[in-house]
Amino acid sequence: MLCPSIMKRVVEEKESGVKELMKMMGLKTWMLWFSWMVNALLVNVITVTIITVLLKVPFGDTAILQYSDFFLVWVILLFYCIAGVTFCFAIGSFFSRPTLAMCAGIFLWFISYSATTYPVMNGNTLHVGVKLVSAILPNTAINWAFGLIVSWETRGEGLSWGNFFTPPSGKEGDISMGLIWVMLIVDTVLYSIVTWYIDSVMPGKYGVAKPWHFFIMPSYWCSSKLSSTFSSDDQAENNRTFENPPSNLHVGIKIQNLRKIFHSLGGLNKKVAVDGVTLDIYSGEITTLLGHNGAGKTTTMSVLTGLYSPTSGSVYIDGYDIRENLDKVRESMGLCPQHALLFSDLTVMEHLLFFAIVSIPAFQYSVIQLVHFCLKFRVEH
Ligand SMILES: Nc1ncnc2c1ncn2[C@@H]1O[C@H](COP(=O)(O)OP(=O)(O)O)[C@@H](O)[C@H]1O
Ligand SMILES: [Mg+2]
Repeated sequence: MLCPSIMKRVVEEKESGVKELMKMMGLKTWMLWFSWMVNALLVNVITVTIITVLLKVPFGDTAILQYSDFFLVWVILLFYCIAGVTFCFAIGSFFSRPTLAMCAGIFLWFISYSATTYPVMNGNTLHVGVKLVSAILPNTAINWAFGLIVSWETRGEGLSWGNFFTPPSGKEGDISMGLIWVMLIVDTVLYSIVTWYIDSVMPGKYGVAKPWHFFIMPSYWCSSKLSSTFSSDDQAENNRTFENPPSNLHVGIKIQNLRKIFHSLGGLNKKVAVDGVTLDIYSGEITTLLGHNGAGKTTTMSVLTGLYSPTSGSVYIDGYDIRENLDKVRESMGLCPQHALLFSDLTVMEHLLFFAIVSIPAFQYSVIQLVHFCLKFRVEH
């Protein structure tokens, strides 16, 4: 039951906008997920070790698993945890409400475990292909693994390196522990890909959604820069109403016909916050946005930094399109938001430390883990 609770916290981070803020600070997306994985595994490794010890230590005359190899049982359980955590990441990426995500998580977790126990324990007649496909769910895979361990134990042999790829049923090509192992790795890779994809195309309220085919666009893999000298296209027609910009200036930020519409009450209420803004901002100059309350200044800034996706229109920052090369854009951006986006569990000092160090790439790695550890500690005490 640990996994769904991790999922709730992952979704909370997405809902509160802290995740986007960290990305805005320059945190790499993979690092964020990696730190969640470390966070989840810190606890799971301890649990798995305790379980394995309980299974192997003899109480009275015999241990529960008398013959099986300690390390192999431990590794299988650990792989199961890793696959289970990525499974929860993948489900969590479909949700933007933490509690809903956790309910769905617990439900799916429970169903995928209990509904498969019976067929797995009695399923020796099933085709090996069916068994392997069913192991796409980590909970089913671990049920198969338990079944295999029990088979080896009842034969008095126990699971060992020697029979790792041998099916205990004796049938050629039947399911073996090695195959379960492979399937758990396949699951981890599969759910990581699902998480990566869904998280990119449906980032939730904050963040810029990528188009569904983003992974075949060359710009995703290698950031492409538009020609850095923009031509002012509609200059000709505006000539009479606008003063021409000085010709020696370099356009740093180019906003073209930017619109942002907020939908609330499930799409019933439409609020046009930014309506067709076209603006060139020159590098080497200080530019200020002025306007009455509700004019859309904050929304414009939020779109520029990638906190919200634009409804339509485009923004180029230093030649990079924010829809395609947000990471590149963020390397040259900073934003002090109007509303505090804070970790509810950290103190002022911890926030200062965190954001000071997170902006130094070389330190990101260790610090993120540290902070997640603090978070976890807080949550539990
Ligand atoms: N997250 C949001 N959901 C719905 N409406 C919003 C949201 N953020 C801003 N708005 C609306 O968009 C308009 C522009 O807001 P904002 O950009 O904050 O204005 P400014 O910063 O210029 O005062 C306002 O009418 C505000 O109510
Ligand atoms: Mg404002």
